[in-house]
Amino acid sequence: MVLLTIGLGNVVLGNEPTTYKPLKSPDGRMEARFELKDGVPYYSLYRDGKAVVLDSRMGFKLEWRKSDLASGFKISHVQRNTFDEVWQPVWGEETNIRNHYNEMVVTLHQDYYLDHEGKRVDKPTVMAIRFRLYDDGLGFRYEWPDAIAVNLDDWSHVYNSLVYFWLTDELTEFRLTGDHTAWWIPGDYDTQEFNYTESRLSQVRGLYWQSQKGGGWPWKSFSETGLQTALQMKTDDGLYINIHEAAVLNYPTMNLDLNDTTFTLKVHLTPDATGYVGRLQTPCVSPWRTVQVCEKATDVLRSRLILNLNEPCAIEDVSWIHPVKYMGVWWEMISDKGTWGYTNDFPSVRLPGDPSVPQSLQGTATDYTRCKPHGRHSANNDNVRRYIDFAAKHGFDALLIEGWNIGWEDWYGKEKDYVFDFLTPYPDFDLPALNKYAHENGIRLIMHHETSSSVPNYERFMERAYNLMNQYGYDAVKSGYVGKIVPHGEHHYSQPIINHYHRAIVEAAKHHIMVNAHEAVRPTGLCRTWPNMIGNESAMGTEFRGRINPGHTTILPFTRLQGGPMDYTPGIFETDMEKNAPWNHDLMRHTICNQLGLYVTFYSPLQMAADFPEHYEPYMDAFQFIKDVAVDWDTSIYIAAEPGDYIVTARKPKVSTLNQAAEGVGTLPDGKKGVISNAARFVYGIEDTNALTHSHINALKPRDTWYIGGITDETAREFSVKLDFLKPGVKYEATIYADAKDASGYVSDVKMGWEAAQKEGYNPKAYTITKKTVTSKTTLKLKMAPCGGFAVSIRENPAKTK
Ligand code: NOJ
Ligand code: CA
Repeated sequence: MVLLTIGLGNVVLGNEPTTYKPLKSPDGRMEARFELKDGVPYYSLYRDGKAVVLDSRMGFKLEWRKSDLASGFKISHVQRNTFDEVWQPVWGEETNIRNHYNEMVVTLHQDYYLDHEGKRVDKPTVMAIRFRLYDDGLGFRYEWPDAIAVNLDDWSHVYNSLVYFWLTDELTEFRLTGDHTAWWIPGDYDTQEFNYTESRLSQVRGLYWQSQKGGGWPWKSFSETGLQTALQMKTDDGLYINIHEAAVLNYPTMNLDLNDTTFTLKVHLTPDATGYVGRLQTPCVSPWRTVQVCEKATDVLRSRLILNLNEPCAIEDVSWIHPVKYMGVWWEMISDKGTWGYTNDFPSVRLPGDPSVPQSLQGTATDYTRCKPHGRHSANNDNVRRYIDFAAKHGFDALLIEGWNIGWEDWYGKEKDYVFDFLTPYPDFDLPALNKYAHENGIRLIMHHETSSSVPNYERFMERAYNLMNQYGYDAVKSGYVGKIVPHGEHHYSQPIINHYHRAIVEAAKHHIMVNAHEAVRPTGLCRTWPNMIGNESAMGTEFRGRINPGHTTILPFTRLQGGPMDYTPGIFETDMEKNAPWNHDLMRHTICNQLGLYVTFYSPLQMAADFPEHYEPYMDAFQFIKDVAVDWDTSIYIAAEPGDYIVTARKPKVSTLNQAAEGVGTLPDGKKGVISNAARFVYGIEDTNALTHSHINALKPRDTWYIGGITDETAREFSVKLDFLKPGVKYEATIYADAKDASGYVSDVKMGWEAAQKEGYNPKAYTITKKTVTSKTTLKLKMAPCGGFAVSIRENPAKTK
């Protein structure tokens, strides 16, 4: 047996006092306290001496024991450490991240436990609680060592009586100090695809059912005061408190259940199909529970608490992981112009090779070569080539294609096990030829694996599916988990399914594949450890079209993005969905400049230009910003922000990754060599699209470049942005993409139609583009229309500086 394998050091069960000198943050302003009250563990959190979280309970309920991990504890040992490091993420919002905290590990034990019959067993049970206190918040987690010395003179008594254990409840609470304002989505076991509601905590119950309207399917709520994390709150004193979790591995997702009289949030874990919330084996740890505390909204965006609480990168060679700016054969299906499926001929689909089908019925498998195509299948050879041409011409890295594989006629809502094989293309999708064509044009194709939430089926095919990707040179996959989870009774956020998502990431890494999972669990910073996890959806994204509330994208960076980047799929220029399909009456509530602003305010190393080429063609001058913008950053400056209202952010690109995707294509046997992405062209000032190849880049000097983005909710706003982050004495050229005076992305009823909306002032495509010389002394005045925004690219102008 290993003595305390999870890093607690050699611990002898002792009997220490029940209260302790509090733990202070490095700047001394935050204070975490731990106390045992009659054997029950409690913690509390203070900032500048004022309570942020009042005495709150900790612990667990167990199955198979009459005693729980809830009371009867003694303190054995307390350890303190300080940690300070700077680490470099593979991709991120900045090159360097500081991880600086003070730590306190409290080891607890119970002298005996009561077995399932209530009989006393005189063997100790050991659980430690590790607190890490940062200047911007607290993280704590539970740890269960497999061994502990009861008595150092007697090594026969080295054990933790807890070996395999089953959790029925986690008792951790966050007792708040008042009726804070919260930006929340309803608690759920299956989806995060909701609009946010802004209200006082006391109003949650009254707004609960309404908060689910227009959200994702399937949903499974558990309480009329259930809330999801990251939960952003603001106190009446203006303090921003954010509760979330970090490093969720082999453990279910945490929801919060609000007591709206005491303003206590209690952890509510997603149960598995048998009702347990965790099956664990020592040594093991829980995820971190986090309370982020910031004085300014911009500090919330700057906080790296969740990433820091995750473990360092587990992948040794990360050279194959790179940022991706991409387009997709995708919006056609989302907007109803086209379909994923190929034919209307089949009442149901049976894929060949399903081993659960008896031999005598194998001949009944669906034969796509013998059906009549309905003609609206978007992933066809000609259409894909059209997108490849456009993406290549405009310097993108990749193209996603959905609906390439058989099975889509029968994929939705059937709770079907053998639903896709992830291997067989439709007859009109020539997988080898299209990959070749893409590579020859300097583009990678992005694979799509919609699992329809049939987890056993995806696991069945995963290895073969990843091998197919390797064979043809795909290095990224978008996966999806639409519908109810198979096996039935499991949820998107229960422990076995959390383990599946993780397995998919780890297996993908072995194949050098980057993963962007949709509908999977919202991330909790695991991308630090597994940077091949370049994206996730797990929130209401652009696919919800007219259902997205104004201001939604000003909230997500405070909530969903705290755990990792989101594949929000911005860039919709044509806001009238009737232009895509006459029966789709949605108008989207944003201006073109709002969409441009998102490329900067919304961090993701995987960023899409989601609209059709033909919708960009008439607005190539505005599209230029999407072409020029980078997606991976050296420095980020959060200029102004308030959740639900606005965000203004400035970012400086990370030069080393600007052209990484293009260079990767060049290493493929059929890949075009020397491609320069448009963002690299912009930063290096390469105007002639044919003149240079990336081997020449090394001889050039990148120009100091910044991008600024702004977005607002339905309120028009004006910001003065000081450019004091530019190098003094240097002249830059700024290109300002701004809403025109009469622009507006707001419409009171998204179904009223284009004509009626215009009478209300809806004018989403009106913008101006101006160029001017700026320096570090310049202040830009930038206006945003209702549901609007702005984007600015700023590049050093060597000619003028001299
Ligand atoms: C939902 C995803 O969010 C969307 O992007 C995808 O196109 C569909 N599922 C189909 O897989
Ligand atoms: Ca989705």
